[in-house]
Amino acid sequence: MDTKALIQETLDLRQKAYAIYSNFHVGAILVTEDDQKYKGVNIEISSYGLTICAERLAVFKARADGIEKFKAIFIASDSEKITSPCGACRQVLWELAGDIDVFMINRHGEYKKMKMSQLLPVGFDRSFL
Ligand code: THU
Repeated sequence: MDTKALIQETLDLRQKAYAIYSNFHVGAILVTEDDQKYKGVNIEISSYGLTICAERLAVFKARADGIEKFKAIFIASDSEKITSPCGACRQVLWELAGDIDVFMINRHGEYKKMKMSQLLPVGFDRSFL
């Protein structure tokens, strides 16, 4: 996995975001265990609550192709701050991707890497059911 190239690709991916209401563009690339890339961007809808975040779109696309094992997700936005995934996306990523590495990137390509289990400690999941 070429971290530097993936960071640049995730930054470039923001161009594909459909973010005409917030003007805040997010790209996410989910890397599978066998190094396939699944890409997501945020897609906003005029009825705002129907918006989907980049991270969830990426993982839903992968899951729809039957992929269950992942290494990492790269997330980049327009922010000066590194891009921390929202609470809803953390829950979904924990369920569908597990304890992967999360590369959180700012608009300048600076990044921080954390594990999903650090971002969602004591998360609820199927082990409770
Ligand atoms: N957004 C994402 O796509 N991912 C995040 O982790 C945070 C927020 C999107 C949702 C909305 O389209 C815009 O960014 C502003 O919240």
